[in-house]
Amino acid sequence: MLTENDPIAPHGGILVDRRAPEDERKERLEEASRLPRLRLGPRALSDLEMISTGVFSPLEGFMNREDYESVVEGMHLAGGLAWSMPVTLAADREELEGVREGGEIALTAQDGHVVATMAVEEVYPYDREEEAKEVYRTTDEKHPGVANLFLQGELLVGGTVTLLVEEPTPRPFPGYYYEPAELREIFREKGWRRIVGFQTRNPVHRAHEYIQKSALETVDGLLLNPLVGETKSDDIPADVRMRSYEVLLERYYPKDRTVLAVFPAAMRYAGPREAIFHAICRKNYGCTHFIVGRDHAGVGSYYGTYDAQAIFDEFDPDELGITPLFFEHAFFCLNCGGMATTKTCPHDAESHVFFSGTRVREMLGRGEYPPPEFSRPEVVEVLIEGMRES
Ligand code: ADX
Repeated sequence: MLTENDPIAPHGGILVDRRAPEDERKERLEEASRLPRLRLGPRALSDLEMISTGVFSPLEGFMNREDYESVVEGMHLAGGLAWSMPVTLAADREELEGVREGGEIALTAQDGHVVATMAVEEVYPYDREEEAKEVYRTTDEKHPGVANLFLQGELLVGGTVTLLVEEPTPRPFPGYYYEPAELREIFREKGWRRIVGFQTRNPVHRAHEYIQKSALETVDGLLLNPLVGETKSDDIPADVRMRSYEVLLERYYPKDRTVLAVFPAAMRYAGPREAIFHAICRKNYGCTHFIVGRDHAGVGSYYGTYDAQAIFDEFDPDELGITPLFFEHAFFCLNCGGMATTKTCPHDAESHVFFSGTRVREMLGRGEYPPPEFSRPEVVEVLIEGMRES
């Protein structure tokens, strides 16, 4: 439940809940078994869950053409609300036999069991090249987000969804799984008014820890919100990362000022556009602030180091509502004897130990232990163990 006292309203004002009431689910599932079916892949299932539980508020379904084109071209929904990433359901023509605009269809999981219904408003063609250019800023198929886009079906199906089951796919890490309404309740109980959200798809290294704690100095609480949906195959698996977050929080973070919760979205690697999208999702979870550091949600060298910060200038701060906290590229300075950025350290580049999740991954892959300036030893232990298991 949302109260007027919440420090921040959901995007668009209302927390969306697209789940059928529990006592209606059985009957609705029976009715849905007679509808034309569309099988969803893991990304679409994740999107379905995010829409239904309100993480993607104000979206109530997969985008229709007007919203889709307005988002791709101008980063706003057709009604004018800021929104940076398309959330679409793609399918091939053959999969859509029996699907009519104005009709209803059943959405199924990979194994064919019905998880939701969709009121189909529109089935429409779209321009993948255009979407790639606008959203990912590249049409290079080596970009993982673009590669996914080019593999998608040739048509998009737009319409409102209704979730008919508790979880469309088994919930990853149930102990750390909270819907926006639940996280808001937790923040309320803790009495936090200023909450900073942190997105990550990597283990938390010293640079992450530094920027999180710098932010935490000025707010009431930190939401460590690692993405655990689909990532590219060379990213560190979510179960290993979760173990690394647990040991880190246990040893180095104040328990009463930190909440660990999973972000079950798929990674899009859209850099700047995804930074806006990540911020809006965290606003729906109840965060008032959101950290954007170097090359947020970037991959390879498709985006400039601070492009994901600069894109916030394209929006009026009021239309986003959540306040971004920007951080420079952080490093360990041998002269300062601690973490810093060029904003706080006067020494030359020779004293600066730069590192990144990618570099740590490479070192671990070669069986090398990253030094403590890179990563807490407890985190390294977990990562090495994870490498051995895989
Ligand atoms: S991301 O794809 O989830 O953005 P990652 O987990 O590496 O990747 O980053 C999480 C957050 O930390 C992002 O906001 C990113 O910009 C920031 N970040 C990562 N490394 C650094 C660093 N060395 N200095 C400053 N910010 C960083």
